[in-house]
Amino acid sequence: MRLLVTGGCGFIGGNFIRMILRARSDVVVCNMDKLSYAGNTAHMQDMERAYPGRYFFERADIADAAAAREILRTHKIEALVNFAAESHVDRSIEDATPFLRSNVQGVVVLLKAALDAGIKRFVQISTDEVYGSLPLEAKDASFREDSPLSPNSPYAASKASADLFCRSFFKTYDLPLVITRCSNNYGPYQFPEKLIPLMFFRAMRGESLPLYGDGLNVRDWIHVEDHCRGVLLALEKGRAGAIYNFGGGAERGNLHVVREILKFCGRDESLIRPVKDRPGHDRRYAMDYGLAARELGFSPSCCFEEGLRRTLVWYRENQAWVDDVASGDYLSDIRKRYGE
Ligand code: NAD
Ligand code: TYD
Repeated sequence: MRLLVTGGCGFIGGNFIRMILRARSDVVVCNMDKLSYAGNTAHMQDMERAYPGRYFFERADIADAAAAREILRTHKIEALVNFAAESHVDRSIEDATPFLRSNVQGVVVLLKAALDAGIKRFVQISTDEVYGSLPLEAKDASFREDSPLSPNSPYAASKASADLFCRSFFKTYDLPLVITRCSNNYGPYQFPEKLIPLMFFRAMRGESLPLYGDGLNVRDWIHVEDHCRGVLLALEKGRAGAIYNFGGGAERGNLHVVREILKFCGRDESLIRPVKDRPGHDRRYAMDYGLAARELGFSPSCCFEEGLRRTLVWYRENQAWVDDVASGDYLSDIRKRYGE
């Protein structure tokens, strides 16, 4: 299979490319990434050498229709997995415009290009955030694929919009597509603006840890390898037109996660700095992934505390990667966000 993976220089897309090239010897991957602040080539530099003739990189924006058409044509693409997106909620609160371009317009461009090229399978990578928020008290409640779309942040609204465009291309044009919606990922190569790597790097440097609100917001954490396995199942076995939820079955409050990180770093809790809550902050996410379990055989295999420990060991041992991604405007952006 000749596969286009977009956003493959980011966290999840990069992990997915490594996994599929290792697991499927008949797959050729073209990675299309515009290299936004979150796209990191150091991350993928060894791939052409490791997989000669099976890995190609094209620097291009998914919202550029001519580039998308050309890449589908020259690489004779048969299937596509779209990871490319602006992915950080805080940035979407600061400025929604890039989210509209990459997450909505970019998806529509890809859908049209895929339709014209006769693509056999299109997988759109979406998120649990399209469903909105669950109350902390309703412990048994979780999101199902037929839960209403109720996005609260501009990021979530852009992803929900993309899901609706995907649905329309399936209904109107029979484009064989599948949508996957996943909960919060953690693991190697995550850009250090997201909770786990951010708190780890700050704790290692003895800097304060900005915890939003009361710190009791809950996320359903999934190891990135479990998510990538789910995406591979959806690509190979997903029913056209279906939506599949993936979750880690590991609901944890933010304060609990931060305490685990502090323990790992040998730091005490005085580093925790409660800060003003994120506007529109979703209280709790929890995924019912029963459909993916029944139709695809999906189940997460990684226990959160062990997966978190392995992830932090990886960050500690890959300081060069961290120094590379944390160059540029990263630190000043973060400091501005927390009023430092
Ligand atoms: P990321 O920010 O680490 O990486 C995104 C990648 O996409 C970067 O390499 C960036 O350069 C590229 N990109 C952005 N806009 C582009 C454009 N217009 N054209 C080409 N490339 C572009 O994000 P991530 O955490 O790896 O997330 C990947 C996907 O998974 C996103 O669609 C996100 O919405 C979804 N998702 C993420 C999570 C999570 O916990 N991180 C959970 C569920 C779903
Ligand atoms: P994040 O990693 O940004 O993912 P998302 O908003 O997509 O769930 O945040 C995870 C949780 O951590 C979320 O409840 C917000 C909280 N958080 C903080 O308390 N402080 C921070 O500095 C960040 C980045 C997040």
